[in-house]
Amino acid sequence: MAKRKPFVGGNWKMNLHLSEALALTEELAAKFRATDKVDVVICPAFAYLAQVGQVLKKAGSGIKLGAQDCYFEANGAFTGEVSLSMLKDVGVSVVLTGHSERRHVLGESDELINRKTRAALAAGLEVILCVGEKLEQREAGMTDGVNLGQTSLGLAGVKPEQMSKVTIAYEPVWAIGTGKTATPADAQAAHARIRSFVKSGLYNEAIGDGLRIQYGGSVKPANAAELFGQADIDGGLIGGASLKAADFLAILDGAVQ
Ligand code: PGA
Repeated sequence: MAKRKPFVGGNWKMNLHLSEALALTEELAAKFRATDKVDVVICPAFAYLAQVGQVLKKAGSGIKLGAQDCYFEANGAFTGEVSLSMLKDVGVSVVLTGHSERRHVLGESDELINRKTRAALAAGLEVILCVGEKLEQREAGMTDGVNLGQTSLGLAGVKPEQMSKVTIAYEPVWAIGTGKTATPADAQAAHARIRSFVKSGLYNEAIGDGLRIQYGGSVKPANAAELFGQADIDGGLIGGASLKAADFLAILDGAVQ
């Protein structure tokens, strides 16, 4: 079958102050034009979502606005949290759930990640659900078990008809921000395993074939095209290299092949 349309995300994490975030957005919006060859989302810090969203809207670039996290409750006494309707108010259409830093630095459980995933889908947003093993898990031969476990717990209760709004990001924890990248063959093997599980363990053939699975973990201009060229890798989730317009644009070029 034809390969799925690649999807590339820029996860800015807790980086870039307002002027830097706006300058980067303006440059990306000026140089990237919506194309039928790749979907693009950028995920600034909560504090600047509205302003970054305004720049994207004005430029009409087709770049989507994403949030790095969300909360699943609609409103109320949840100090510090941000609801999905608030995110929608400022133009967000994509939400990351289960990023490894939320899991392993902030202590989020699979159950919390699942509640966020289901709430974001119920609110009509797209979700990028992140999964991936730690180094000690890889060394213990647990890579597939961790990925499949996080995928099934993250997607628990997600209806088949909602799956067109779901992307999985496979991000081996040991490769995030470390400069170490999974080899294209290792990444491809992990992606293929997740896809076959979605097909025969969780949903069906058509949903598995249509599901986009991004690779994340030290993607840079020099390795993007080879990674994205693998049969089951449908673009990437980019941290460090998404903070510089030239690098992110070069990575987008690597997705269009
Ligand atoms: P990195 O981060 O590209 O800096 O490794 C990827 C991510 O955390 O999404």
